[in-house]
Amino acid sequence: MYEVFSLQNGRLVDEEAHFKRLFRSLKELSLKVPWNQAVLQVIIGEVLRRNRIEYGNVYLQISRGNARRSHQFPLSLPKPSLVVMANRISYECEKSMSGISVLTVPDIRWGRADIKSISLLPNVLAKQKAVMDDFNEAWFVESNGRITEGASTNAWIVDANGNLITRGLGKHILAGVTRKRVMELAVSNGLNIFERGFTVEEAYSASEAFLTSTTAGVMPVIKIDDHQIADGSPGKVTSKLCALYSKFLDDLRR
Ligand SMILES: Cc1ncc(COP(=O)(O)O)c(C=O)c1O
Repeated sequence: MYEVFSLQNGRLVDEEAHFKRLFRSLKELSLKVPWNQAVLQVIIGEVLRRNRIEYGNVYLQISRGNARRSHQFPLSLPKPSLVVMANRISYECEKSMSGISVLTVPDIRWGRADIKSISLLPNVLAKQKAVMDDFNEAWFVESNGRITEGASTNAWIVDANGNLITRGLGKHILAGVTRKRVMELAVSNGLNIFERGFTVEEAYSASEAFLTSTTAGVMPVIKIDDHQIADGSPGKVTSKLCALYSKFLDDLRR
């Protein structure tokens, strides 16, 4: 399994939520590790110190460890492997303000998209197809026509009344940490949120669309397949959420 944290001024953004999801993923995979949160925090801190990184992200990956190839877990459990790396990147809301395009693709993933597992082949193929077709991200669609989430992002639309719509939590999507943070920012700024599946047709005719993730923040979506969303520029609600998320990050920098 893996986790990706964003880093602002040497601080991990929404650290508790990421660790909570990390330990949940480990539990769901029956992957026992000798490291608790405090130990992982020290290791991450050391990687950041040695690489002198204050803004960017941290990638952490844990596997069951080295063993003979077999589908069952090894009898004598090996020492789990831990990889931590950090990248220097800055998130700026303004950079994303021209908006991006999304290609819809069938959701062919396994039934436990809620586990942040490195088995990402359907996500990789979906993203590659999107890029090859000149799109920036792929959104997965279930056989009933409803969008679950993106290849590496959570999917959102805004209806004609300015209400936010995003898929409810469950086994079919990853519980995005940015999704949760944006929800809190939205609600405390008087916006309504409906957590439900929305169809591709609903997305085509939405007032606005956007996506969220640790590395993308709040990113406006201005085109889905060959349909322009509204007037093809980032909408008011999205821009507001983008600004609120930027302010949340700025406050962490102080
Ligand atoms: C499939 C998927 N959905 C959603 C997200 C967004 O999650 P978060 O906001 O925690 O980065 C990611 C992030 O990698 C993802 O891979």
